[in-house]
Amino acid sequence: MSIVVTGATGFLGELVIKHLLKKVPANEIIASVRNVEKASKLAELGVEVRQGDYLDLESMKSSFAEASKVLFISSPDTDNTLRIRQHATVVQAARDAGVQHIAYTGYAFAEESIIPLAHVHLATEYAIRTTGIPYTFLRNALYTEVFVNPELKGSVERGAIVTNTGNGKINSLTRRDLALAAATVLTEEGHENKTYNLVNPQAWSYDELAEIVSEVSGKKVVHQSVSFDEMKSILTNVGLPEPVAELFAGIYHSISEGETSKTSDDLQTLIGAATPLKDMVREALQ
Ligand SMILES: NC(=O)c1ccc[n+]([C@@H]2O[C@H](COP(=O)([O-])OP(=O)(O)OC[C@H]3O[C@@H](n4cnc5c(N)ncnc54)[C@H](OP(=O)(O)O)[C@@H]3O)[C@@H](O)[C@H]2O)c1
Repeated sequence: MSIVVTGATGFLGELVIKHLLKKVPANEIIASVRNVEKASKLAELGVEVRQGDYLDLESMKSSFAEASKVLFISSPDTDNTLRIRQHATVVQAARDAGVQHIAYTGYAFAEESIIPLAHVHLATEYAIRTTGIPYTFLRNALYTEVFVNPELKGSVERGAIVTNTGNGKINSLTRRDLALAAATVLTEEGHENKTYNLVNPQAWSYDELAEIVSEVSGKKVVHQSVSFDEMKSILTNVGLPEPVAELFAGIYHSISEGETSKTSDDLQTLIGAATPLKDMVREALQ
């Protein structure tokens, strides 16, 4: 058996490989990477490194040669039509290489999403379905690290976390929990042709996060909710490029509309309890 992980130099891919190494021998794991020079850490772990670019069919086919399973990690590109082309190329390569099982990292409850990038994930899932390859759709939550990271230290100093999420709930998960779920699916039987919405069974709001941050930091921090336009200009004023500011304010807006309030037990069934939010806050404020 050999398992290929694409996007293996990324945060999620590296974590998946670390979890896989606890479950299968290193010589059964292949890292497919765009830039081989960035993969020296992976090579040191005893994992085979292969070059593969999502827009280059032949390189992706070589990445997948002789592989029984593939974890296809979605592209980070912000141009959605480009992403769809990249993803179609990866799926074509998996089909042509004769891959026997493809797991794909999509977006939780994508059909109900108001974020345009959800369509990229749905389009990719449908592309995979056209191949007839047994699949597992790992529909990932938003990463907790997107919201809970060392930038919270600045919020502690200011005494406020500013968002346009209103009272919306967030079913986020840490990358390490999502990586463990992916490694579990790749090394266990019985996950073929299944769709998992990997979200936190306990969604949280920014008001609740502010309380946890206050408790952990020992300083009163409140959540201040602003409008979409105010949020966008706050983000551009701190130096974010406009499309990125718009994406963030858009994600916050979708949260305020309840997009990330829906929960599921799929993650718990695969790996057990999710990492508590308070642990992530402690890590972020260290
Ligand atoms: N759920 C969420 O909240 C959330 C947030 C952000 C992103 N995402 C999605 O989840 C994916 C994994 O997250 P992450 O944190 O691991 O992202 P990441 O650290 O940005 O990793 C992305 C990986 O994709 C690789 N890549 C980029 N373009 C490529 C191409 N043309 N061909 C082959 N590989 C390419 C990158 O290679 P290099 O190292 O060479 O750049 C990197 O290994 C992202 O790519 C994105 O689709 C989800």
